[in-house]
Amino acid sequence: MFDTRITKLFGIKYPIIGGGMQFLSRAGLVSAISNAGGLGLIPAAMFPELDDLRKEIRLTKTLTKKPFGINLTLFQHPRGVTIEQYIDVILDEGIKIVETAGRSPEPYIKKLKDNGVIIMHKTPAVRFAKTAERVGVDAIAILGMEGAGHPGMDDVTSMVLIPLAAETLKIPVVAAGGISNARSFLAALSLGAEGILMGTRFAITQESPAHPKIKEALVQAPETATALLERSLGNPIRALKNKAAQTILELETKGATSDELLPYIRGEQGKKAWIGGEIDAGVVSIGEVVGLVHNIPTVKEVIDSIVSEAQTLLEHLTTISGTKQAKR
Ligand SMILES: Cc1cc2nc3c(=O)[nH]c(=O)nc-3n(C[C@H](O)[C@H](O)[C@H](O)COP(=O)(O)O)c2cc1C
Repeated sequence: MFDTRITKLFGIKYPIIGGGMQFLSRAGLVSAISNAGGLGLIPAAMFPELDDLRKEIRLTKTLTKKPFGINLTLFQHPRGVTIEQYIDVILDEGIKIVETAGRSPEPYIKKLKDNGVIIMHKTPAVRFAKTAERVGVDAIAILGMEGAGHPGMDDVTSMVLIPLAAETLKIPVVAAGGISNARSFLAALSLGAEGILMGTRFAITQESPAHPKIKEALVQAPETATALLERSLGNPIRALKNKAAQTILELETKGATSDELLPYIRGEQGKKAWIGGEIDAGVVSIGEVVGLVHNIPTVKEVIDSIVSEAQTLLEHLTTISGTKQAKR
């Protein structure tokens, strides 16, 4: 059911990937996504101590026998841990799937490939996707501007990016940004993607370690509840328009420097919000699709409902297209 080059590449049941999410994509959520037939990703950058990343990988292995991978942001990492050091842990632990993001993966391709790792590169622009394809990645996750995390400076939506990526690239494309249910899953496949990657939808599930207060607040949040912050720093992040976001936007309008913004954008502040439930304490990255998230189901319920409702929708589309009648 919904077999594509992505299900084959990663050895997964459904072409549904859980985007790496800072404080949330820990062993519990990641293994739940993989156990439900998708692919969970652990964000390496959340582990400034290499041993902690190793422990999280080992814990995840105890919770699932299904494939899972590591999200590797190629920016400079806190406390001086290098990308090479992260890669050494990844290889040491026998991880076979890596999602790169943030910069060109070129310097790391050979080592990963020589060790049998499948590489998907996540990017918000087709021109960067083309470079990643040329240097040897196996798949591209293309991220529209409605998505959470860092959707780039171009402000192009998934509706345009997905078909553009699909017609430009030879390797399979995974659609990210604005996807939450069977409708958007099927839309992404219709636009040429061979899989989807969701952050926001999985952030608001039973297995997500987000504080119940923030999950409830996000269920109530409309599609207009987010804004792009930190554009002045050249790497915008889509986040909830809470008090921290409003302060950041005001400071940016006044031309604040990165040092002036730092107290508001620090990871610890975001953690206070996500895990501590202090909703206004820091940056709460979330996508526009939060406006379509109305409940807090289990991960399995999310994935099962996408797959089964997509079948029903397909039948409906077949009926209205007249295909069924033509066969009679
Ligand atoms: C709370 C949260 C934290 C995120 N953290 C990261 C991250 O650490 N690294 C990354 O590459 N993307 C991160 N993202 C982005 C997701 O992996 C994914 O690309 C994005 O959420 C897809 O868009 P959607 O939210 O509309 O589904 C995060 C998203 C959310 C909601």
